[in-house]
Amino acid sequence: MRGKTVYLKSFGCQMNSADSEQFLGILGRAGYKPTDRPEGADLILLNTCAIRAKAEQKVFSELGRLREYKLRDPSVKIGVAGCVAQSLGKGILSREPAVDFVLGTRSAADLPDMIRQAETGRRGVSLSATGEFDLDTARLESVRTSPYHAYVPIIYGCDNHCAYCVVPGVRGPERSRPDEGILREIRDLAQRGYRAVTLLGQNVNSYGKKDNKNMGFSELLHAVCEVSGIDRVRFVTSHPRDLSEDVVNAMGVLPPVCEALHLPVQSGSDRILAAMNRGYTRAQYFERIALLRDRIPGIALSTDIIVGFPGESDADFAQTLSLIAEVAFDSLFGFAFSPRPETPAAGLPGRVEAQISQRRLHAVLDLQREISARRNAVLVGASVEVLVEGRNPRNPQGLSGRTRTHKIVHFQGDAGLTGTLVAVRITEARPNCLIGVQVDACRPGDGFGA
Ligand code: 5AD
Ligand code: SF4
Repeated sequence: MRGKTVYLKSFGCQMNSADSEQFLGILGRAGYKPTDRPEGADLILLNTCAIRAKAEQKVFSELGRLREYKLRDPSVKIGVAGCVAQSLGKGILSREPAVDFVLGTRSAADLPDMIRQAETGRRGVSLSATGEFDLDTARLESVRTSPYHAYVPIIYGCDNHCAYCVVPGVRGPERSRPDEGILREIRDLAQRGYRAVTLLGQNVNSYGKKDNKNMGFSELLHAVCEVSGIDRVRFVTSHPRDLSEDVVNAMGVLPPVCEALHLPVQSGSDRILAAMNRGYTRAQYFERIALLRDRIPGIALSTDIIVGFPGESDADFAQTLSLIAEVAFDSLFGFAFSPRPETPAAGLPGRVEAQISQRRLHAVLDLQREISARRNAVLVGASVEVLVEGRNPRNPQGLSGRTRTHKIVHFQGDAGLTGTLVAVRITEARPNCLIGVQVDACRPGDGFGA
């Protein structure tokens, strides 16, 4: 008998990617092999994102397309997991008749049961897992996309309640994962040849704060860096309010921790930061940046910006532009505010017209393009350590990789270098990537820092 196949499409953040890899592990046990095309798949699973209205709309247009496969072959099962699943629940079943089951963000354990139910013709919804779930085993069995870089969740959920954000609602309260499980997963990865890990959480800096069972985040960083074979450690996402000096110090002294930090600021205006309930001021954000640059020379900083938050005036927006210019981030993600159901900001007065938000968004992205180009230009002539990710998707003759500062580098080389560290001399800088020539193979700690 032919084995069963699953087509899994993941939307949204890296936490969703990590969950998707874990789903594939759970499905592997149930006899499903992943396939990268929906045609002929026995199971179609979407792992969804609800962060902005557009992300949610994407899920329904995708379901509209995928419905065809079920019309052609009614034995095909379709499941919706992740953040839209958690936020809309059984509403998805009424909105899209082709969907067989809805699996919330804490319900991975119920996936095999949901499929079994669907096979008997019953549609199901699980928004809080039933039964025991052995998270550590499920993590160890994850089917990972990359053979040398791995995502490792360390904290789930979020207690922050930023006024615009659905995450606390859809991912629940903060829960730190026990440190032994995290370290076991990383040791296992190292033994299997993984060289880089990204520790994941909505707010990694809160790791271990709520309970006394686990180490704090800086201690966890120290412990992770002791795992031999792991050359690069990164983490996302950090909340500026919770980024403590001991974490910054740990980043400065631990060689595997990369010189890069994503520190979402969202706005440069104190009035808007307060309305967003972010818990820090513009001045406090600048203090964090100064500390980071003092302790971690050459650090690359990136951020998230929301424009058009309710009540954002031209003067508030000017403050955002001036913050971006003053910090001079290496890169930035910009978003127009999207009102989300059941978030405090959805009910706020002072809606900014869509046209104005779009104009502001373009202004942010234009400014950042110039800054990124300038910051990258400084690297021309330097030799940097690159972790090779594989063939350049746009130029299959070349290779692509990442510097320790997470910048993309394209260069010519042999595909056999994938997953290794090489030294590359930068010959050209663009706003979103660097071009270079390979100088040599290199060992970690050789002093190539970009
Ligand atoms: N509208 C627009 N952007 C949002 N983000 C989160 N919620 C919203 C929203 N309602 C952005 C923030 C966050 C990033 C992941 O998405 O900038 O840091
Ligand atoms: Fe999207 Fe947030 Fe869910 Fe990640 S946690 S998938 S960004 S809604």
